[in-house]
Formats: sequence, C-alpha cells, structure tokens
Amino acid sequence: LCLPKDIYQTRKNAPGFDWAEQQQLAHFNNLLLSWPDDAFFDPLRTERSPAQSSHADIQKQLQVIAAPYLSKTKDVKQLYSNAIDAQLTWRETSLETRSNCLLRLAEKLIEKQDALLFLLVYEAGKTRSDALNEWREAIDFCFYYAELAKHELHAQKLPSTVGEENYLHYQAKGTFVCISPWNFPLAIFLGQSIAALVSGNTVIAKPAQSCPVIAIYSMALIKQSGINEGVFQLCLAKGSTIGNLLLSHSEYTHLNLNGVCFTGSNKTAKDIEKLLIEHPNKIPLIAETGGLNAMLVDATAQHEQAILDVLQSAFYSAGQRCSAARILLLHHSIYENFVARLQQCMAELIISEPNLAECDIGPVIHAAAKHKINQYIKLQQEQNRVIYQTPLPKHLTTQNYVAPCLIKIDSINEMREEIFGPVLHLVCYDKAENAVEQLNALGYGLTLCIHSRNTTNWHKLATQAKVGNIYINRNQVGAIVGSHPFGGMNLSGTGPKAGGPNYLKAFVNEKTISENS
Ligand code: ALA
Repeated sequence: LCLPKDIYQTRKNAPGFDWAEQQQLAHFNNLLLSWPDDAFFDPLRTERSPAQSSHADIQKQLQVIAAPYLSKTKDVKQLYSNAIDAQLTWRETSLETRSNCLLRLAEKLIEKQDALLFLLVYEAGKTRSDALNEWREAIDFCFYYAELAKHELHAQKLPSTVGEENYLHYQAKGTFVCISPWNFPLAIFLGQSIAALVSGNTVIAKPAQSCPVIAIYSMALIKQSGINEGVFQLCLAKGSTIGNLLLSHSEYTHLNLNGVCFTGSNKTAKDIEKLLIEHPNKIPLIAETGGLNAMLVDATAQHEQAILDVLQSAFYSAGQRCSAARILLLHHSIYENFVARLQQCMAELIISEPNLAECDIGPVIHAAAKHKINQYIKLQQEQNRVIYQTPLPKHLTTQNYVAPCLIKIDSINEMREEIFGPVLHLVCYDKAENAVEQLNALGYGLTLCIHSRNTTNWHKLATQAKVGNIYINRNQVGAIVGSHPFGGMNLSGTGPKAGGPNYLKAFVNEKTISENS
C-alpha cells in the first residue's frame, strides 16, 4: 500500500496554533459557544466561564460540564437495538462512501484544531507538544484508514475453473464495542472507532471516564462527517458498570455483539476476556494493553542520543504511554558514567503546568494515579532503591504531579507490574542475550529500544525479543501512523497493529462466494 501523501502533509503543513497565555480563557469560552449544532450539546452551552484560567481550574470546570452525561445509566438494550437497525444500511454503503466520511472527519478535526488542542491540554493534562502530536495522529488515522479500506477491503477475484467465478469478500462483523483509554482520548478513541466504522461495522464507543468532553466533542464531528446516530453511538458512563452491561452475555448482546476493541490496562483486558468467554458465540477481542518495556544501551551506544531518548521515552508524557520505557538496561562498562549524566539531565527537566510553553513534564491524569505511583515510589525509597528524583516545584506538590524517578533494581526478574507514570528502573547487565531472555520471560511484549552501533548485535537481539515494536537508536514512543504500525504480543496485546496495513482485516469476516454460471 502506498501511504496517502496527506499523512505526511498533515505533519508538515499543520497550521500553527496560538498558545498565547491571554488567549486561553478566550479559547475556553469560545469552545463552549462553538459546540457543534446538536441538541445533545444544548446543556453544555450555558455560560460557565471559569474564574481563572489555570489548568486545574479549567479541568474542574470541564468535569462539571460532563457530569450529567457520566451519571446517566445507559440503556444497553436501546444502544444495541439502534446499532442493529443502523447496520442494515451502513454495511450496504460503498467502501468509497465510508472512506469519504473519514476524509470529511479529517477536515473537521483540522478545522477544530483550537478546540481539540485546548481540550487535550486542559482535560487530559497533555503538554502542548503532546497535544499537537495526538491531534495530528487522529487526523492521520482518518487519512490512513480511508485509503487502506479502499485498497484492502474490496472483493478479490480468485482463481476460477471454467464456468465458475470465485470471489473473496470482506464483510463487516456487525457491531463493535470500542473501549478507549484516557491517555490518548482523541487519537485512540477515534482510531479504534473509525477502523471499525470504515470496515462497515456499527460502533458503540465507551471512552475513558476521565476525558468525556473530548469524546462528546469528537462525536459531534463524527456526525457532521456523515456518520449517523445509530452507526456510531457514544456510551458515557463509569467503565466498571457500563463495561459489564455492554459485554456480558445477555439477551441483547447474545447475537448483537460481534467484536470488542479495547485499549487499556492488562487487568481490564483479562476481565473483558472472561466476560466474552461466557458468550455462546466466539466474540473476537482486539486488545492493546501495557508493557514492561525496556531500553537497552550497549557499550557501543552514542550516549548523548541515548540519554535524550531515555528522557523522552520514560519521563515525557509523565510516563503515561503504554509504549514508555520502564526498564533501562545499561552495559556494566558504561553504567557509572551513563547514570551520572542521566541524573544531570533529569535535574534539568521542567515540571510545570501543561498549558505553559516551558513544560517537559505535566501532571498525571488524576489524584488516584498520583497516589498509586507515589505509593510505589515510597515503597522503593524504604528499600533504598531510589537513586534520583527530579525536584518537584513547591507550588505543584498539592496538585497531580509526580516527579521523574530513577530506581535501581538488581534484576529484571524483580519487575512485576507496569507503573503508569514517570518511573524508570535501572538494571546493570553483562550479556545482552541474557537480558532479552529475561525480558521475554516477563510475558509482556510491547516495545523495546536498543541503542547500539554494532549492527550484528542489535539484529540478533531484535530477532530474539518477543515484542511488537522495536526501535533502534531512537526513542521508543510516538509511533507514526503508517510508518510504525503499533501493537504488542503476549500480555501486551492480541496482535493487530493500529495504523498498519493489516489492521482493518481484524474488523471483518472473510466470505468466499463461488458462482457456477
Ligand atoms: N502509540 C503510542 C506510542 O507509540 C502509544 O507512544
């Protein structure tokens, strides 16, 4: 497949955004006034100017705005019945019509750049550059899947004997439930849903509870792109309750749930798996979870590059990426020197409010996340394992910030669970093959980064490693749609790679039609 050139144009020609401080309050008010014209949004239009424009204040205001939608218990039967009705016409629409809806959505996302960036910063706590990259990724998914559907999902003519015509058709599975995480509330939320939609499925989307306003706003853009109510439905409610209702084996879901696309924690993926086993039909699960991802730096590595990549991979985005580095494997010959330089660089990281221009590390998503990460760090401190933590500015200590933290452990085998924050574990290794074997034994398999100038060595390690995405001599975050198809194996995911040439095939059934003429 040739990559649509728009993917790269989006990146190169993305219009600039005015981040000026004095503009931010105006953005908030404009956002509320510029909700798409839809009855669903009426209650949001009432005047709700925040008293101040700080990140925490506006985040609270956004939570107030979304509260009425979160507290509603959804009528699951109604959602499924709408989806079934809509499916009859949606799956009959041409691939071109469905692809064009995605192209229109891309245009809407570009048009609404200011509102979307604003929401990514204020509702999700993204830094400016993270917000910009996520917005671009969402647009790239639209361009990429629109093109991919046209290339990959049309019927294929197969070898035929005389008097017989054989075709392989790709048919939508039916209704997908798409459950997306708070760390990419725009790109993954849209990426999952539009992949299912362009393949001809109807979608019930359950976005993250922490970022409902981004989902509500995006839903309006989806509708404006020609995707009707019923074809795409938003289900905003507490995950633990609505998730069970949506996926459990019941009279509504028995025949009408045809696939689940989930990105989030490993634990939730397992819970979903258990629910799906109850169904009499086999319901496919496309799951992308977390990882105990490592960066391995060998004796030949270029240190300046590797240190920059450690900072970006482990600490930027406050470590809240499933791809983030959790373990830093340093060859014993470079260990002391590398760690000393890394600490110096960690001391320079700027922890600040995400809306500010000078910000490397923003907040974590909410107080519960901060508490969980800090509990873990405290435990490590008690065991004298914390070797460095970037100082946290005093005025941020009461808010949801966690300072980047470096922890020394004796062995990879000590790693247990993914800590979803800016925490990096240091391990000194002797033989790289042994280190990779131990990583494989952890059972996760999302990303691995190798810093080495010995091509033979890194080739061997890349073959040995059981992970979905391997990065050589660069950082291990920020997969680009079309260039870095993204997704893990084993405990990290079920396989299909988002933003890759085979992704859409996971949303369809293959059907062979042999016609004797
Ligand atoms: N796809 C995201 C990344 O690569 C998670 O960082």
